[in-house]
Amino acid sequence: MLEKLNEIQAAALDALESVKDSEALQGWKVKHTGGNSALTEVFKGIGKVAKEDRGKVGKRANEVKVALEAALTERAALIKEAELARSLEEDHLDVTLPGRPFRHGGVHPATQTLRRILGILADMGFQVYTSREVESDEYNFQHLNFPLGHPAREMQDSFYVESEGERDNPLLMRTHTSPGQIRAMREAAVGNPDNPPPIRISLPGMCYRYEQITSRSEIQFNQVEGLAVGENITFSDLKGTLSDFARRMFGAHARTRFRAQHFPFTEPSAEMDVECFLCGGEGCSVCKKSGWLEILGCGMVHPNVLQAGGYDPRRYTGFAFGMGPERQAMLRHNIKDIRYFWGNDSRFLEQF
Ligand code: PHE
Repeated sequence: MLEKLNEIQAAALDALESVKDSEALQGWKVKHTGGNSALTEVFKGIGKVAKEDRGKVGKRANEVKVALEAALTERAALIKEAELARSLEEDHLDVTLPGRPFRHGGVHPATQTLRRILGILADMGFQVYTSREVESDEYNFQHLNFPLGHPAREMQDSFYVESEGERDNPLLMRTHTSPGQIRAMREAAVGNPDNPPPIRISLPGMCYRYEQITSRSEIQFNQVEGLAVGENITFSDLKGTLSDFARRMFGAHARTRFRAQHFPFTEPSAEMDVECFLCGGEGCSVCKKSGWLEILGCGMVHPNVLQAGGYDPRRYTGFAFGMGPERQAMLRHNIKDIRYFWGNDSRFLEQF
């Protein structure tokens, strides 16, 4: 029996030598010290050992048990240490590596230009007035001196919000920011119709037209409108204000010129060109060799429009202008296709 215990001990310790990880160690523990192990069999059979040997065998069996448990504990510590070393090696983490930067968004190039324009106009005393994007035919056209069936409506084909509804005053997406002129004048004239206050505002926002989308025309675009109404406002105020605007926007040397144009809501009407800031007026591909870039439409507010806004045209005059931030951004950055603006291609947008 003592011989057998020596064999059990030797076999177990021998097997323990080749145990290399916790899983195998668990297997060894069950096999050599568990309920079905040879050692446990010895303990179970101790009653059948001859009385005079029983003490010695019991003592020896206990020694084996203690020895195996000690070996197990020692092995477990070794394995744990080895596993820790291995995981440190394999899951190596270089805490000195620089972090990955967060990608943060930027301001859209159209918005950048829009804000720049509004900032300059604010410095010149034009306060922002925001008006609605869904308008009635009345505000978008009729009050602006486009009667029903007027041919100038053709230039501003519209998205109608209601197909049924009020036949002669349907809702539509505004085709320009000019309806805000009427809303601002009416708001100012409310409560003081005989003596309405002067107005000097900028009207920014998105406009919509039912266009064929091409590199030069989109179905949505921003406009910034300007409106000044008061007593003794003349065409030279318009020219002076807009020339000053051009110098602030395009540089101190920016020259301007005014060409006659027609809009139903202004009389007389003009378009302002600025000397090409890319070639300095020499003539290049952007200004199509002319040396001038068309920047905005403008004019003296038509008497019918003043009237519609609640301002007596015999006493008050005013000027208005409207420009497109996307167009200005295209000129400034030599962007060849207007579809980039709402195409949401981050490769384009990240450049600004
Ligand atoms: N509303 C005009 C357009 O969209 C621009 C404009 C505004 C012209 C104000 C003159 C005065 O084309």
